[in-house]
Amino acid sequence: MTTTSSLTPIHDAVREHYAERIKNNASCCGGGSDCCSTSDSNLYPAELIATLPEGESAVSYGCGDPITLASLQPGQTVLDLGSGAGLDCFFAAKKVGAAGRVIGVDMTPEMIERARSSAKRMNLDNVEFRQGYLEALPVDSSSVDVVISNCVINLSPDKPKVFGEAFRVLKPGGKFAVSDIVTGGPLPEEVKQSLSAWAGCVAGAVEAKEYTAMMEAAGFTDITIKPVFFDKETVDSALEEMKLDINQYPRESVYQAVYSAKITAYKPA
Ligand SMILES: C[S@@+](CC[C@H](N)C(=O)[O-])C[C@H]1O[C@@H](n2cnc3c(N)ncnc32)[C@H](O)[C@@H]1O
Repeated sequence: MTTTSSLTPIHDAVREHYAERIKNNASCCGGGSDCCSTSDSNLYPAELIATLPEGESAVSYGCGDPITLASLQPGQTVLDLGSGAGLDCFFAAKKVGAAGRVIGVDMTPEMIERARSSAKRMNLDNVEFRQGYLEALPVDSSSVDVVISNCVINLSPDKPKVFGEAFRVLKPGGKFAVSDIVTGGPLPEEVKQSLSAWAGCVAGAVEAKEYTAMMEAAGFTDITIKPVFFDKETVDSALEEMKLDINQYPRESVYQAVYSAKITAYKPA
Protein backbone atom coordinates (compact mmCIF):
# COMPACT_ATOMS: atom_id res chain seq x y z
CA MET A 1 0.00 0.00 0.00
CA THR A 2 1.42 3.44 -0.85
CA THR A 3 0.90 5.58 2.21
CA THR A 4 2.07 9.13 2.73
CA SER A 5 5.20 7.74 4.39
CA SER A 6 6.10 5.53 1.41
CA LEU A 7 5.92 8.40 -1.06
CA THR A 8 9.31 9.54 -2.28
CA PRO A 9 10.80 12.86 -3.41
CA ILE A 10 10.39 11.47 -6.93
CA HIS A 11 6.59 11.35 -6.53
CA ASP A 12 6.67 14.99 -5.37
CA ALA A 13 8.92 16.14 -8.21
CA VAL A 14 6.84 14.32 -10.82
CA ARG A 15 3.54 15.60 -9.41
CA GLU A 16 4.80 19.20 -9.29
CA HIS A 17 6.14 18.92 -12.84
CA TYR A 18 2.83 17.72 -14.29
CA ALA A 19 0.72 20.08 -12.18
CA GLU A 20 2.75 22.93 -13.64
CA ARG A 21 2.44 21.61 -17.17
CA ILE A 22 -1.32 21.26 -17.09
CA LYS A 23 -1.69 24.70 -15.48
CA ASN A 24 0.31 26.14 -18.39
CA ASN A 25 -1.64 23.93 -20.78
CA ALA A 26 1.59 22.73 -22.38
CA SER A 27 1.05 19.52 -24.28
CA CYS A 28 2.52 17.33 -26.93
CA CYS A 29 -0.35 17.45 -29.36
CA GLY A 30 -0.61 21.18 -28.71
CA GLY A 31 2.93 21.73 -29.92
CA GLY A 32 4.99 21.74 -26.70
CA SER A 33 7.41 19.01 -25.86
CA ASP A 34 7.62 16.68 -22.89
CA CYS A 35 8.30 13.02 -22.54
CA CYS A 36 5.66 12.70 -25.19
CA SER A 37 7.59 13.07 -28.38
CA THR A 38 8.04 10.25 -30.85
CA SER A 39 9.30 10.89 -34.36
CA ASP A 40 5.70 11.68 -35.22
CA SER A 41 4.32 14.47 -33.05
CA ASN A 42 0.83 13.23 -33.93
CA LEU A 43 0.78 10.07 -31.86
CA TYR A 44 -2.66 8.84 -32.89
CA PRO A 45 -4.28 7.93 -36.20
CA ALA A 46 -6.49 10.69 -37.61
CA GLU A 47 -9.62 8.52 -37.27
CA LEU A 48 -9.07 8.28 -33.52
CA ILE A 49 -8.55 12.04 -33.14
CA ALA A 50 -11.76 12.49 -35.15
CA THR A 51 -13.75 10.74 -32.40
CA LEU A 52 -13.17 13.78 -30.14
CA PRO A 53 -16.04 16.25 -30.19
CA GLU A 54 -15.41 19.36 -32.27
CA GLY A 55 -13.51 22.03 -30.35
CA GLU A 56 -11.89 19.55 -27.94
CA SER A 57 -8.10 19.69 -28.08
CA ALA A 58 -5.95 16.60 -27.71
CA VAL A 59 -3.93 17.34 -24.57
CA SER A 60 -1.35 14.56 -24.43
CA TYR A 61 1.79 13.92 -22.44
CA GLY A 62 2.09 10.44 -23.86
CA CYS A 63 4.74 8.71 -25.98
CA GLY A 64 2.56 6.39 -28.06
CA ASP A 65 -0.92 5.09 -28.82
CA PRO A 66 -2.05 2.47 -26.29
CA ILE A 67 -5.61 2.64 -27.64
CA THR A 68 -4.76 1.08 -31.00
CA LEU A 69 -2.45 -1.39 -29.22
CA ALA A 70 -5.25 -2.47 -26.86
CA SER A 71 -7.80 -3.34 -29.63
CA LEU A 72 -10.63 -2.38 -27.26
CA GLN A 73 -14.05 -4.02 -27.65
CA PRO A 74 -17.55 -2.75 -26.76
CA GLY A 75 -18.54 -3.60 -23.19
CA GLN A 76 -15.02 -3.85 -21.77
CA THR A 77 -13.82 -2.26 -18.53
CA VAL A 78 -10.58 -0.34 -19.08
CA LEU A 79 -8.16 1.15 -16.55
CA ASP A 80 -5.71 3.89 -17.57
CA LEU A 81 -2.65 4.15 -15.29
CA GLY A 82 -1.60 7.80 -15.00
CA SER A 83 -4.50 9.17 -17.03
CA GLY A 84 -3.23 12.78 -17.10
CA ALA A 85 -5.69 15.13 -18.78
CA GLY A 86 -7.77 12.12 -19.84
CA LEU A 87 -7.19 11.83 -23.58
CA ASP A 88 -6.70 8.05 -23.73
CA CYS A 89 -9.72 7.58 -21.44
CA PHE A 90 -11.86 9.64 -23.81
CA PHE A 91 -10.75 7.57 -26.80
CA ALA A 92 -11.32 4.36 -24.80
CA ALA A 93 -14.79 5.50 -23.73
CA LYS A 94 -15.84 5.74 -27.39
CA LYS A 95 -14.42 2.30 -28.15
CA VAL A 96 -16.05 0.44 -25.24
CA GLY A 97 -19.37 2.26 -25.66
CA ALA A 98 -22.28 2.66 -23.25
CA ALA A 99 -22.00 -0.96 -22.02
CA GLY A 100 -18.34 -0.47 -21.14
CA ARG A 101 -16.54 1.54 -18.51
CA VAL A 102 -13.28 3.47 -18.26
CA ILE A 103 -11.40 4.39 -15.09
CA GLY A 104 -8.46 6.80 -15.10
CA VAL A 105 -6.14 6.96 -12.08
CA ASP A 106 -3.65 9.78 -11.53
CA MET A 107 -1.89 11.22 -8.47
CA THR A 108 -1.91 14.86 -9.62
CA PRO A 109 -5.06 16.71 -8.47
CA GLU A 110 -4.77 19.28 -11.27
CA MET A 111 -4.82 16.48 -13.87
CA ILE A 112 -7.85 14.81 -12.26
CA GLU A 113 -9.69 18.13 -12.18
CA ARG A 114 -8.95 18.83 -15.85
CA ALA A 115 -9.93 15.31 -16.93
CA ARG A 116 -13.21 15.41 -14.98
CA SER A 117 -14.25 18.77 -16.39
CA SER A 118 -13.43 17.65 -19.96
CA ALA A 119 -15.44 14.43 -19.52
CA LYS A 120 -18.40 16.42 -18.25
CA ARG A 121 -18.21 18.83 -21.16
CA MET A 122 -18.08 15.87 -23.58
CA ASN A 123 -21.06 14.19 -21.87
CA LEU A 124 -19.06 11.01 -21.33
CA ASP A 125 -20.83 9.19 -18.53
CA ASN A 126 -18.93 5.89 -18.87
CA VAL A 127 -15.65 7.46 -17.66
CA GLU A 128 -14.51 8.26 -14.15
CA PHE A 129 -11.28 9.66 -12.76
CA ARG A 130 -9.87 8.59 -9.38
CA GLN A 131 -7.03 10.31 -7.62
CA GLY A 132 -4.51 7.73 -6.49
CA TYR A 133 -1.15 6.06 -6.97
CA LEU A 134 -0.09 3.39 -9.41
CA GLU A 135 1.64 1.66 -6.52
CA ALA A 136 -1.68 1.31 -4.62
CA LEU A 137 -4.46 1.42 -7.19
CA PRO A 138 -7.88 2.48 -5.88
CA VAL A 139 -9.45 -0.31 -7.96
CA ASP A 140 -10.97 -3.70 -7.04
CA SER A 141 -9.06 -6.91 -7.71
CA SER A 142 -9.91 -8.87 -10.91
CA SER A 143 -12.30 -6.15 -12.10
CA VAL A 144 -10.68 -4.85 -15.30
CA ASP A 145 -10.50 -6.33 -18.84
CA VAL A 146 -7.69 -4.12 -20.14
CA VAL A 147 -5.02 -2.00 -18.45
CA ILE A 148 -3.64 0.79 -20.63
CA SER A 149 -1.03 3.44 -19.84
CA ASN A 150 0.86 6.09 -21.79
CA CYS A 151 4.34 7.15 -20.72
CA VAL A 152 3.81 6.75 -16.98
CA ILE A 153 5.27 3.53 -15.55
CA ASN A 154 8.82 4.79 -16.21
CA LEU A 155 8.03 7.61 -13.74
CA SER A 156 7.39 5.27 -10.82
CA PRO A 157 10.24 4.68 -8.35
CA ASP A 158 8.64 1.31 -7.46
CA LYS A 159 7.87 -0.44 -10.74
CA PRO A 160 7.52 -3.97 -9.29
CA LYS A 161 4.68 -2.64 -7.15
CA VAL A 162 3.02 -1.02 -10.19
CA PHE A 163 3.17 -4.27 -12.19
CA GLY A 164 1.87 -6.17 -9.15
CA GLU A 165 -1.05 -3.78 -8.88
CA ALA A 166 -1.83 -3.92 -12.61
CA PHE A 167 -1.83 -7.73 -12.37
CA ARG A 168 -4.08 -7.68 -9.28
CA VAL A 169 -6.81 -5.53 -10.87
CA LEU A 170 -6.89 -7.42 -14.19
CA LYS A 171 -9.42 -10.21 -14.65
CA PRO A 172 -7.93 -13.61 -15.52
CA GLY A 173 -7.13 -13.45 -19.25
CA GLY A 174 -7.01 -9.64 -19.10
CA LYS A 175 -4.72 -7.61 -21.34
CA PHE A 176 -1.96 -5.12 -20.51
CA ALA A 177 -1.36 -2.67 -23.43
CA VAL A 178 1.04 0.13 -22.65
CA SER A 179 3.22 2.75 -24.34
CA ASP A 180 6.25 3.56 -22.22
CA ILE A 181 9.88 4.66 -22.34
CA VAL A 182 12.51 1.94 -21.98
CA THR A 183 16.25 1.82 -22.64
CA GLY A 184 18.53 -0.47 -24.55
CA GLY A 185 21.36 -0.02 -22.03
CA PRO A 186 22.32 1.65 -18.74
CA LEU A 187 22.05 5.45 -18.41
CA PRO A 188 24.87 7.61 -17.01
CA GLU A 189 24.61 7.85 -13.21
CA GLU A 190 24.29 11.66 -13.28
CA VAL A 191 21.29 11.44 -15.57
CA LYS A 192 19.67 8.86 -13.29
CA GLN A 193 20.13 11.23 -10.33
CA SER A 194 18.48 14.20 -12.12
CA LEU A 195 14.93 14.79 -10.89
CA SER A 196 14.07 16.84 -13.96
CA ALA A 197 15.30 13.99 -16.18
CA TRP A 198 13.14 11.67 -14.08
CA ALA A 199 10.07 13.89 -14.53
CA GLY A 200 10.92 14.07 -18.24
CA CYS A 201 10.55 10.29 -18.51
CA VAL A 202 14.25 9.50 -19.01
CA ALA A 203 16.00 8.90 -15.67
CA GLY A 204 13.38 6.44 -14.44
CA ALA A 205 13.34 4.38 -17.64
CA VAL A 206 14.78 0.88 -17.27
CA GLU A 207 16.21 -1.57 -19.77
CA ALA A 208 13.69 -3.55 -21.78
CA LYS A 209 14.99 -6.82 -20.32
CA GLU A 210 14.55 -5.49 -16.76
CA TYR A 211 11.04 -4.28 -17.64
CA THR A 212 10.23 -7.78 -18.91
CA ALA A 213 11.70 -9.44 -15.81
CA MET A 214 9.61 -7.25 -13.48
CA MET A 215 6.46 -8.07 -15.45
CA GLU A 216 7.24 -11.79 -15.36
CA ALA A 217 7.80 -11.57 -11.59
CA ALA A 218 4.34 -10.00 -11.25
CA GLY A 219 2.84 -12.99 -13.12
CA PHE A 220 2.35 -11.63 -16.65
CA THR A 221 2.79 -13.91 -19.66
CA ASP A 222 3.21 -13.45 -23.45
CA ILE A 223 5.15 -10.24 -22.89
CA THR A 224 6.18 -8.28 -26.01
CA ILE A 225 8.17 -5.04 -26.13
CA LYS A 226 8.41 -3.40 -29.58
CA PRO A 227 10.59 -0.29 -29.96
CA VAL A 228 9.55 2.97 -31.63
CA PHE A 229 12.72 5.09 -31.93
CA PHE A 230 12.97 8.86 -31.49
CA ASP A 231 14.29 11.21 -34.17
CA LYS A 232 17.18 13.69 -33.71
CA GLU A 233 14.97 16.79 -33.30
CA THR A 234 12.93 15.14 -30.57
CA VAL A 235 16.06 14.12 -28.70
CA ASP A 236 17.53 17.66 -28.84
CA SER A 237 14.35 19.34 -27.63
CA ALA A 238 13.93 16.78 -24.83
CA LEU A 239 17.49 17.43 -23.64
CA GLU A 240 16.81 21.17 -23.57
CA GLU A 241 13.51 20.69 -21.78
CA MET A 242 15.24 18.69 -19.05
CA LYS A 243 17.90 21.39 -18.63
CA LEU A 244 20.65 18.85 -19.21
CA ASP A 245 23.84 20.17 -20.73
CA ILE A 246 23.84 18.73 -24.23
CA ASN A 247 27.62 18.90 -24.49
CA GLN A 248 28.09 17.15 -21.19
CA TYR A 249 25.66 14.39 -22.17
CA PRO A 250 26.20 13.76 -25.87
CA ARG A 251 23.11 12.43 -27.57
CA GLU A 252 24.79 9.13 -28.42
CA SER A 253 25.61 8.34 -24.80
CA VAL A 254 22.20 9.15 -23.39
CA TYR A 255 19.48 8.96 -25.97
CA GLN A 256 20.53 6.44 -28.53
CA ALA A 257 19.44 3.85 -26.02
CA VAL A 258 16.22 5.57 -24.89
CA TYR A 259 13.09 4.80 -26.86
CA SER A 260 9.33 4.58 -26.72
CA ALA A 261 7.96 1.05 -26.78
CA LYS A 262 4.69 -0.76 -27.44
CA ILE A 263 4.29 -3.24 -24.61
CA THR A 264 1.69 -5.99 -24.37
CA ALA A 265 1.16 -8.85 -21.92
CA TYR A 266 -1.62 -10.96 -20.37
CA LYS A 267 -2.75 -12.18 -17.00
CA PRO A 268 -3.13 -15.95 -17.46
CA ALA A 269 -6.73 -17.10 -17.86
C1 LIG B 1 3.81 11.78 -18.86
S1 LIG B 1 2.27 12.10 -18.10
C2 LIG B 1 1.21 11.07 -19.10
C3 LIG B 1 -0.25 11.41 -18.94
C4 LIG B 1 -1.20 10.67 -19.86
N1 LIG B 1 -1.02 9.25 -19.76
C5 LIG B 1 -1.00 11.12 -21.29
O1 LIG B 1 -0.66 10.29 -22.14
O2 LIG B 1 -1.21 12.31 -21.57
C6 LIG B 1 2.40 11.20 -16.58
C7 LIG B 1 1.18 11.24 -15.69
O3 LIG B 1 1.29 10.20 -14.75
C8 LIG B 1 0.99 10.66 -13.45
N2 LIG B 1 1.81 9.85 -12.53
C9 LIG B 1 3.15 9.71 -12.53
N3 LIG B 1 3.56 8.85 -11.58
C10 LIG B 1 2.43 8.43 -10.95
C11 LIG B 1 2.19 7.53 -9.86
N4 LIG B 1 3.19 6.89 -9.25
N5 LIG B 1 0.91 7.34 -9.48
C12 LIG B 1 -0.12 7.98 -10.10
N6 LIG B 1 0.06 8.86 -11.13
C13 LIG B 1 1.31 9.08 -11.55
C14 LIG B 1 1.35 12.14 -13.48
O4 LIG B 1 0.61 12.85 -12.52
C15 LIG B 1 1.00 12.54 -14.91
O5 LIG B 1 -0.32 12.98 -15.02
